[in-house]
Amino acid sequence: MIRLSTALAMALALAACSPDSETVSKAPEGATPGEGMGGATLADFKTDTTLKDLMAHVIDFSAFGVWHNQGWLIDDTGTHELFPQDEAGWVAAESAAFTLAEAANSLLLPGRPMDDDRRWVDWSHQLYTAAKDAQAKALAKDKQGFFEAGGEMYEACVSCHNHYVQGDAPGVDAKLPQLPNRTPPPPGTPVTPQQAAPPQNQ
Ligand code: HEC
Repeated sequence: MIRLSTALAMALALAACSPDSETVSKAPEGATPGEGMGGATLADFKTDTTLKDLMAHVIDFSAFGVWHNQGWLIDDTGTHELFPQDEAGWVAAESAAFTLAEAANSLLLPGRPMDDDRRWVDWSHQLYTAAKDAQAKALAKDKQGFFEAGGEMYEACVSCHNHYVQGDAPGVDAKLPQLPNRTPPPPGTPVTPQQAAPPQNQ
């Protein structure tokens, strides 16, 4: 059995880039922590879930709720779509995308960023934007758009991991473990089965 996304996802992982200093965003002018938070204060956020658990059980889990619902599968009996087949399936895919967007926000809660580098914020925002794009495309049942948004999501993961996990961030020695039984996510470049690079066997 072959999953088309595999080879291209690997290529994308190598090609992922970091924002350079000119494209890194600035903190909003005059922003005051706590503004618009009602009675809540920064100290009210519950952030005892570790970043590692947040990644493994919230970010990864919700991202796969999107990725498992897109792409094409080729086997002896032909090409099969992985996109949802019914209304309930599309709602589930949309909900996973919404969940991921909110989870991306939680990467910015007090204590979560690994350092003061604005790139942490930018990559979290990139993930949020891509997840919201996936949500909108799932709502519209736009298969191609949903597939492309899945690729955008993956770019955000890889960019942040390249810096903070595999990486070139000073003082960060975390290593992204090999993840067994996980299907690599789809490529950012939309492909038809006929255009796909030689896929790898699962
Ligand atoms: C803003 C930065 C950032 C983004 C965006 C990001 N990650 Fe992570 N991720 C990390 C860091 C840092 C770690 C290492 C955490 C640790 O081991 O303490 C990590 C670790 C992980 C792990 C390993 C967890 C474990 O059990 O060791 C998985 C799985 C993971 N990320 C999945 C994802 C996926 C999927 C996405 C995109 C949908 C994503 N991450 C987006 C920063 C990020």
